[in-house]
Amino acid sequence: MSTTELNLEALASAFEVFPSDTPASDDDRARELDAPRFGTVFTDHMVRISWSVDAGWHDRRVVKYGPLELDPASAVLHYAQEIFEGLKAYRHPDGSVWSFRPEANAARLQRSARRLALPELSTEDFLASLVALVSQDRQWVPERDGFSLYLRPFMYASEAFLGVRPSHSVEYLVIASPVGSYFADGVKPVSIWVAQDFHRAGNGGTGAAKCGGNYAASLQPQIEAYDKGCEQVAFLDAEQNTYLEELGGMNIFAVRADGTLETPKLTGTILEGITRSSILQLASDRGRKVVERRIALTELLDDIRSGDVVEVFACGTAAVITPIGSLKGDGFDVEIGGGEPGELTMALREELTGIQTGVVEDRHGWMTRLA
Ligand code: PLP
Ligand code: COI
Repeated sequence: MSTTELNLEALASAFEVFPSDTPASDDDRARELDAPRFGTVFTDHMVRISWSVDAGWHDRRVVKYGPLELDPASAVLHYAQEIFEGLKAYRHPDGSVWSFRPEANAARLQRSARRLALPELSTEDFLASLVALVSQDRQWVPERDGFSLYLRPFMYASEAFLGVRPSHSVEYLVIASPVGSYFADGVKPVSIWVAQDFHRAGNGGTGAAKCGGNYAASLQPQIEAYDKGCEQVAFLDAEQNTYLEELGGMNIFAVRADGTLETPKLTGTILEGITRSSILQLASDRGRKVVERRIALTELLDDIRSGDVVEVFACGTAAVITPIGSLKGDGFDVEIGGGEPGELTMALREELTGIQTGVVEDRHGWMTRLA
């Protein structure tokens, strides 16, 4: 369904608004918006929708941002029945606020819900929840170049019950956080540690779902990456420990000397990134050949060393497009591009962020107005 066919304002009116009695003052908000560190500052409100087996989705509301009351026996705390999404709201030059392909996030949340035995939230409810929150907190959408409002929809099993079965009650929330760059150093090339003793996901597991458990499983190897002086960890396939899959929170691309773009194909263990699919489109719009295939780590390292691969980058909502300057692992340390961001990497980044911020034509109809 096209979001342009939906009257999002009318859908958002289903949310009852309970305004915060302690919203940030203009001065406090301006200070928080000045240079927020990723994911540390939150807006005045949050959205909630409750679900139960008997009532379905109900009680659509916008409430003051604050702590949740959670029964210690809530299923999410024991069995990790939880999923989430990540997308951004961008300020356009005329002051309006837009998001990028939100219906794709709605669809992915539905796929994640099916895998985690959670109830599906309709695309209409998902989009309306974003409109409801962003309309209420629109002053929190940064105006500064390179900054945006990160939206984090999530859903968790709230039933107080220790039996292992799908929860009979669930909460869906959206919180929002003004953000700049995900990496502390901005758009500088990052180093990646390739984990060879740990895997993120296996066949038939939850790798293609956006669930908290996948990220919990990535933390120990992420510590290993920090110990080796790297910003992020990359994972290989669990079956053969051979093929590059993705990073802890981003997809990965390589650019060949002949101009071809390559990225690991979706095998069921990789998260299908919306940035990834947009890059495939933008690159083929430029007449580039794009290839989705299994990429062996050894082959990629050889191709970088020989100069057949000239750029490697990471991509995702939080990271946008971030150049990768080196790949390290047990027994190898390979530099890419002499520490400089690749030309195509930066051109795609500029085009993508231009579309998102309303300064490059949105020829694919990817943007949806939120406020
Ligand atoms: N892979 C993982 C594991 C992620 O957490 C993310 C971030 O959402 C991505 C890939 C990129 O997905 P997207 O481009 O939809 O943000
Ligand atoms: C995102 O890019 O939205 C992510 O989910 C990555 C990370 C912050 C978990």
